[in-house]
Amino acid sequence: MAAPALSLSLVLLWLLLSMIPNHCRALELMNWSCNNGSSYAPNTTYETNAHRILATLSATTPNTSAFFATASTGRGADAAVWGLALCRGDTDRAGCASCLAAVPAVAFNECGGDMDVTVFYDRCLARFSFDDFTARPDNTEVLIGSPSADRITGSDSGRFDALVYDLAGAVADWAAYNSTPRRYAAGVMATGENGFTSTTEDVVHNIYSVVECTPDQAPAACRACLEALRVDMPKVFAGRMGGRFDAVWCNFRYETFVFFDGDPAVKLVAPPVRPQNGNKRRHPINPATVLASILGAFVILLSVFIICLWRKLQAKRYAAEKDVDSGSLLFDLATIRKATDNFAEDNKLGHGGFGAVYKGFLPDVGEIAVKRLDKTSGQGLEQLRNELLLVAKLRHNNLAKLLGVCIKGEEKLLVYEYLPNRSLDNFLFDPEKRRQLSWETRYRIIHGIARGLLYLHEDSQIKIIHRDLKASNVLLDSSMNPKISDFGLARLFDGTKTTVTSQVVGTLGYMAPEYAVLGHLSVKLDVYSFGVLVLEIVTGRKNTDVFNGDDESNHLLSYVWDHWLKGTPLEIADVLLLCGSQGPLDRELLKCLHLALLCVQENPADRPTMLSVLVMLHDVDNTSFALPSKPAFAFADVGNTMSSSPSAVVLSINDVSISEFHPR
Ligand SMILES: *[C@@H]1O[C@H](CO)[C@@H](O)[C@H](O)[C@H]1NC(C)=O
Ligand SMILES: *[C@@H]1O[C@H](CO)[C@@H](O)[C@H](O)[C@H]1NC(C)=O
Ligand SMILES: *[C@@H]1O[C@H](CO)[C@@H](O)[C@H](O)[C@H]1NC(C)=O
Ligand SMILES: *[C@@H]1O[C@H](CO)[C@@H](O)[C@H](O)[C@H]1NC(C)=O
Repeated sequence: MAAPALSLSLVLLWLLLSMIPNHCRALELMNWSCNNGSSYAPNTTYETNAHRILATLSATTPNTSAFFATASTGRGADAAVWGLALCRGDTDRAGCASCLAAVPAVAFNECGGDMDVTVFYDRCLARFSFDDFTARPDNTEVLIGSPSADRITGSDSGRFDALVYDLAGAVADWAAYNSTPRRYAAGVMATGENGFTSTTEDVVHNIYSVVECTPDQAPAACRACLEALRVDMPKVFAGRMGGRFDAVWCNFRYETFVFFDGDPAVKLVAPPVRPQNGNKRRHPINPATVLASILGAFVILLSVFIICLWRKLQAKRYAAEKDVDSGSLLFDLATIRKATDNFAEDNKLGHGGFGAVYKGFLPDVGEIAVKRLDKTSGQGLEQLRNELLLVAKLRHNNLAKLLGVCIKGEEKLLVYEYLPNRSLDNFLFDPEKRRQLSWETRYRIIHGIARGLLYLHEDSQIKIIHRDLKASNVLLDSSMNPKISDFGLARLFDGTKTTVTSQVVGTLGYMAPEYAVLGHLSVKLDVYSFGVLVLEIVTGRKNTDVFNGDDESNHLLSYVWDHWLKGTPLEIADVLLLCGSQGPLDRELLKCLHLALLCVQENPADRPTMLSVLVMLHDVDNTSFALPSKPAFAFADVGNTMSSSPSAVVLSINDVSISEFHPR
């Protein structure tokens, strides 16, 4: 055959191949899992329902925008079946449908009689079970697939693993934060001119990867799920030319050939390898090479120079456009690393609701406290940065001073002024240190917290609801002035400014009932926490302390309310306070107890605003105050009510944070 005819037919063949729709490509069965815990007998209701679930899922899933569906049917132990299906983000409707249509054959033949089955095709996955697994993302069951025994050879297989690892991180970021409604991303890493040699004949020039989460997971949860797979990768797939983690809630695959459709969202180029001296000596020096190198170096230098110049110009333009102030609030990651001795364990001051806090030192600032955020919502880095910069610009004598922020890749750091006296709980709940808190000091602390909150609620440029005010979030400076910390951080979990939030952030015991149960967001929930905090300051007891006595009054709020009703409110004050002079002190104590009770009223409308609180603090006594009714008692058994309404809950009990993500 003549050469033109050959190339023409090749072109035609290529055209034909590229016209084949996605769903006509062969399906590849990846793996399956017959979770063999329990089995059902043939011709039972369970069998019928299991078939029904898979049929329902393959009918509904392709019609959803996220290619994701869950379903359940039947009631009772031997009949109820739950199911879930997900198609890969690059599939089309028909591809998704035909993939899911292939699932039952595997599920009922390979795993015949099994009550809990998961099937993984390359383009879809499905699971059914007698257990309601659909509401609890739990990615512990992971099947490891290494489709090729082929390996990267030579001394640089470690570099190959590192590139796969980098690619997986970038693709995971994209899937978690940039992709909706699906949580899917594909990526490619170009490995450079020389590529990698392998046990096959081919030189590897590209690495391809796909990651995916079920779209009901919040971005941060998706990212964490993928990270848990990623950390195992270099160990499990060392040097392999392909690998997979098949799992329901998130999965991951990489190959050295293209296995997905469409243009990958993530495109990376491997950093160049520094030439080793040993290699060079083997080649005789060629004048042309030398000349080329010199020219090359010159071109590189020139481009570096131009890029620098361009960047400077850009930076100038940026600074002119945006707030000039922002520049000084941004810290460099290297600087913070150095300041904290690379987050040394020795420098760790503690772990709060939003992350660990480290002590550090900056030459031109002095001692600093660095908060390393460990979880944030799905907002992009740019948005997160803007949000933090906004918060950093809030300045008030009763707010911890946020010196700046640093956001670089995974690291999200807040740099605060360091306060040697740490936080209020260190004093208040320590039998020895509590003696240092005279009534005068406590009153000043209450007053300061009220002023700080008022500023957040009304006086700052942006209205901020703290949502997690508690003793450990009140820092004390060297003269025991209170400074509220962690303000503005709750917003990072839930950017919505609506009055109902999908994420509850806070601490049990300090949390207003309408917020804990319904997610209702208003400044009055801070007023509630403030009331609880004032009661703690006056009594020197934690709100979680259990008080002896009859059943009704075993928590701080009910204990206080009991004494209020009995007309003996002063009996509950910290005994350390009652040793001093009486007259004016009693009046102030009574005033604080009274206003605290008003702050913890069940109905938010009955609680005063922070402005009224300050007015009350300036009153001589409590004679003009409204009469409190029975407060909303602390949620001792909040666990049951909690999961009902808000779709996600971030709580901390005793400063241990618990995050729970429910599907939306
Ligand atoms: C199946 O179950 C039995 C007993 O419960 C267990 O010993 C066995 O390892 C299981 N097999 C698989 C493949 O999970
Ligand atoms: C189940 O039902 C089918 C058809 O109704 C029947 O052929 C088969 O024998 C039954 N199997 C058992 C174990 O009862
Ligand atoms: C899904 O969409 C197709 C085409 O629009 C339609 O024929 C089919 O009935 C839909 N299935 C379901 C379960 O809604
Ligand atoms: C399926 O998963 C198991 C468990 O991780 C693994 O040992 C096996 O190699 C996998 N099979 C394939 C074909 O990847």
